[in-house]
Amino acid sequence: MWNYPNFLAHRGGGKLAPENTIAGLRCGLAHGFHAVEFDVMLARDGVPVVMHDPYLGRTVAGSGNVYDYDAAELVTMDAGNWFSAQYKGETVPLFTQFVQFCKDNDIWMNIEIKPAPGFEEETGRAVASLTRALFGLEIAQDDLRQIPLLSSFSPVALAAALKAAPDLPRALLLDRMDEGWQTQARELEAVAIHTNHKHLNEALAHQIKEAGYGLFCYTVNDPERAREILAWGVDAFCTDRIDLIGPDFA
Ligand code: G3P
Ligand code: MG
Repeated sequence: MWNYPNFLAHRGGGKLAPENTIAGLRCGLAHGFHAVEFDVMLARDGVPVVMHDPYLGRTVAGSGNVYDYDAAELVTMDAGNWFSAQYKGETVPLFTQFVQFCKDNDIWMNIEIKPAPGFEEETGRAVASLTRALFGLEIAQDDLRQIPLLSSFSPVALAAALKAAPDLPRALLLDRMDEGWQTQARELEAVAIHTNHKHLNEALAHQIKEAGYGLFCYTVNDPERAREILAWGVDAFCTDRIDLIGPDFA
């Protein structure tokens, strides 16, 4: 069962803006997206920041690991210039800042917990606790679209999230579906399976849906492929091509 938006901008603004930045969110909004997937990990001081890679250098100017720096240092670092000079000065967002922007602009969130290796448990705990605190009583609302969905490739992070904030929904991210997926999803009390569409087939899609899970795919950039997997019963996906696949795609 999937109670959330169907089409999400991947990493904020897909491939049209620097990933995991506020500029990316603005770009998604400009294309009509009010649903987003983004990645979160911990700075050295345990403060969650919005980043995909556990190291600097690709999207963020600098070198070393994210956990070598406190959040106060990371938020001064350029996260836009790698994409284009137009975005120079765009910085690494704090998780709290990113969530606030989404709340202010009515953007639904799929928060991917992306722990650096060795930090799985503390990242899952920190992100879930902070999300729970940021949403407070809103969690009690009936409209699930108000509540973020946590996801992770790390079962350890999801187990920690379950313990820290059991009322926040969780999704298990799997690149490929191996035989143990049902046991893992059940133990983590996941509401959805998030999987790589490249390894999905129709039989597997039916199996996931028949087991009662929401089915979300990443990262679908071809409209023809999008139509194909939707016909299999896929509920939702994220896309980099927010210019080709709009929020009302069907
Ligand atoms: O959450 C789905 C997707 O974002 C997973 O891959 O590497 O883009 O975080 P990645
Ligand atoms: Mg992601």
